[in-house]
Amino acid sequence: MTSMTDDTAKDAWIQRSRFKVHGRKKGILKRGETDWLPQRLQELSPPWATTRHETLTRWQADPGTARLWLEIGFGNGDTLTHMALHHPQDRLIGIDVFMEGFSALLRRIERMNLHNVAVEAGHALEILETRKIEALLDRVMINFPDPWPKKRHHKRRLIQTDFLDRLATAMTPGGLLTLATDWPDYGVWMQDHLEVHPAFTNPHGPRQPAPEPDLWQPTRFQQKGESAGRPILHLAYQRS
Ligand SMILES: C[S@@+](CC[C@H](N)C(=O)[O-])C[C@H]1O[C@@H](n2cnc3c(N)ncnc32)[C@H](O)[C@@H]1O
Repeated sequence: MTSMTDDTAKDAWIQRSRFKVHGRKKGILKRGETDWLPQRLQELSPPWATTRHETLTRWQADPGTARLWLEIGFGNGDTLTHMALHHPQDRLIGIDVFMEGFSALLRRIERMNLHNVAVEAGHALEILETRKIEALLDRVMINFPDPWPKKRHHKRRLIQTDFLDRLATAMTPGGLLTLATDWPDYGVWMQDHLEVHPAFTNPHGPRQPAPEPDLWQPTRFQQKGESAGRPILHLAYQRS
């Protein structure tokens, strides 16, 4: 059997992308992972359809009661798998650019015997655009996105107006976007962008933080922030 070299497999989607991906994205894959990862990723692709009803039906869920979730930047999949385990009637999609995280996530999905999780590799904005995702997502989670603390790197931050415009298109009216960060400056940046965005409203009142989401479980990046003494900010915005 032909096996891809480590570099080919790790870089495949990054080279295809027309969006610039910043920061760590290769990670360290164990020998052999490059053989099974691409195939497993293929098997776990979301059954995207043009309507939410059709997407959930294809995924053997009841569109009347199930919710469609997306986590952007799932890291090693702590939150995605935890939420999937506790919401077996719902369907959850994870998007990330970081190959090492996929390997951890896929192992966890198997260990936990989850059948309601799908994954996509690549830049979130590019996937939302190329898949033409419109009015499908009931719940979107963005937990501890890369903070890019230096001013000259702020343009690399995930939360930008054009990204929020695209996300708003992808979400259902009334859908909920939740965010968490341990970088106070990024928290203010998120609020600055979201509070003035015409498609989102803050259900907790102007510039108010949100309580921890239900069933919240601290992530690895939350733990890193807390051990460095940084407070955790949760935010929630409703798609109007
Ligand atoms: C700081 S980590 C946080 C991981 C996880 N949410 C947690 O709390 O442990 C940020 C994650 O976002 C991913 N990421 C960065 N830019 C992205 C993008 N444009 N689209 C999808 N994922 C992205 C990174 O690969 C990384 O896994």
